[in-house]
This record gives sequence, C-alpha cells and structure tokens, in this order.
Amino acid sequence: MDIQALNDIAVKMVEPGKGILAADESTGTIGKRFDSIGTESTFEKRRDWREMLFRTQPAMENHISGVILFDETIRQDAADGTSLVKLIQDSGAIPGIKVDTGAKPLAGRPGETITEGLDGLRDRLKEYYELGARFAKWRAVIEISHPDQYVGMTPTIGGIKANTHALGRYAALCQEAGIVPIVEPEVLMGGHHNVARCHEVTENVLNSLFTELYEQGVKLEGTILKPNMVVAGKKCTLQPSREEIAERTIKVLKDTVPAAVPGIAFLSGGQDNEEATRNLDMMNKIGGFPWKLTYSYGRALQQSALFAWKGKAENYDAAQAAFNHRAKMNGLASKGEWSEGLDAAG
Ligand code: 13P
Repeated sequence: MDIQALNDIAVKMVEPGKGILAADESTGTIGKRFDSIGTESTFEKRRDWREMLFRTQPAMENHISGVILFDETIRQDAADGTSLVKLIQDSGAIPGIKVDTGAKPLAGRPGETITEGLDGLRDRLKEYYELGARFAKWRAVIEISHPDQYVGMTPTIGGIKANTHALGRYAALCQEAGIVPIVEPEVLMGGHHNVARCHEVTENVLNSLFTELYEQGVKLEGTILKPNMVVAGKKCTLQPSREEIAERTIKVLKDTVPAAVPGIAFLSGGQDNEEATRNLDMMNKIGGFPWKLTYSYGRALQQSALFAWKGKAENYDAAQAAFNHRAKMNGLASKGEWSEGLDAAG
C-alpha cells in the first residue's frame, strides 16, 4: 500500500472550495427520484441525467473534487460515446464508486440493518481501479428508535459493532487496492428523537468506527469520513438552531475523529438544500478543527436541478444553472464564506 498516494487523493477530495457529488443512487433509489418528477427511469434517462450533471461548468471544475458513481454509471458512455468516467476526469474531478450492496435486516436485532458487500470485494475493487475509481464509498445505516420505546430500543451495541466492523474490513480492502475509502456511518434523521439523542448515538458510532479502523490496520491519512451532522429527528417538535447543530457536530467530531483524517465530507441525509449549505457554512465559520470540513451531498446538490430538468431535454440549461448554483453555494460553505443573500441572489 502506498500511503502517500492515498493521502494525496484524500487531500484532493477535500480541497477548499470543493466537495463531493454523490451520484451513486442505486437503480431503485434513482427510480424514486425520477418518480418525483414524473419521469420513467430507463438506462438512457439515467445516463442523460448524469451526463448533464458531469458536463456542468463551472460547477464541475471549480466545486466538485470527486463524483461517487454506481456500478452501472462507471461502465456507461455519454450520448457521444465518451465514457462518463472520462467526462469526470476531464473536468479535473476524481471518479469514485459505491461498493456496498445495501443495508439488509440484521439477524437477531429487529429494527436494525447490516450493510452487505464484503464477499468478493477484493476482486471488485481491482476491477473498479482499472475502470478509473480512486476512491470508494460504503454506507452503514443506523436508525434511532422512537424516544418512547424502551424495549427493542435502537441502535444496540451489537448493531453498531456489526456495522463499524464491516466498515473497517471494507476500508482495509480499499487501501490494499490503492483506493481511498469513504467511511459513512449514517445516523438517520427521520425519527422523533431530539438533538441530544442524535449527539449521543453519533458519538457512540464514531468511537466504535475509529476503534475498528485502528484494529484493522486502516491508515487514517488515506481515509475520508462521511458522517451525518448532529441534528434532531425530522419529526421532533424541538428543532435546534444552526449554531447548536454546528457546535454539537464539531464537538462530537473533536471527541472522536483523530487529526490524522484529512477530511470530513458530510452527507445531506434529507436536510433541504439551503439547510445543508448553511449548517456546513456555520461550522466552517466557527473553525478551529484539524480536518477540512466539506460536503458529499446527493440530494442537497441535485434536487433543484432535478426539478428544473423534469426529464426533458429542453430543460437542460435550467438544470445546469440550478446545479451550478448549488455547487457554488456549497463551495462557499466549505470555506465559511456563504451567506443567505448570496444564495437568494442566485
Ligand atoms: P444525501 O446527501 O442525499 O444523503 O446522499 C449522500 C449519500 O451518498 C448517502 O449515502
């Protein structure tokens, strides 16, 4: 393993002003996104949508350091026959690949899931490297049960350990293959829990994750963390301020993430576009931490463009304008230079 080469990639992924575009929706998930704009999800439509994003300038050149792809997309060509991987590389961004095969029910632990995909991963990583991937993503999913639920409360220690163990094994295999692992333990924000509970669970999960990474010989210098922010569940009646979200998130990260990690790229997880941008911006305005803090957003980078596009070729320019705007706003947030006025002006 060439740790310097891995570190060079990781540092490039979190370059100030840039972040990661998560365009790795599985065929099922992108089908749901397309349903929301009344568009049928076909092989060609998925290609058109993603090709449009990867051709958007100056967003790609100035604000996207890497793109996470799905297996179908890393093998797919643009309409003119250029590979989508080449489009990404030509814009100066790094192609990446989602390698987990999804979260399945965890036996013995009702209400919890385990992310699968370790079997055969060594060979798959070799192929993805040849196809151009220089980083990978694996997402573990942690669900917080309803605050009134005492019996069968989640997450359990067993559920957390199973998931962080898988993340550790995945990360070690990636580094062996010359690929930077994005380790993503996502604490979901859909529930009724308050921000203090999200804080507690996120802290447990990240502590468990970094223990596993250490025990499995993962070099932190060649790793990117993709966590949730510390927020209240969407159905909680008491929603924290942006200051509280930023302060709690920084506190949890400082308490658990070693300084050797070059960067932390957040998921948006269902926050709306502006919320995801302003929370990242607030953290970078506060500052005082050893890693770069940036974005690895899926929905928060794509949603406005998706609604502008509506599956129609004639909306191509409007969709690119929407993507350019979100990319620019998030680029500013990665430096703590965003403002509501600038966002509204776009
Ligand atoms: P969201 O930003 O839509 O949560 O997607 C990021 C991602 O890659 C989740 O795995």
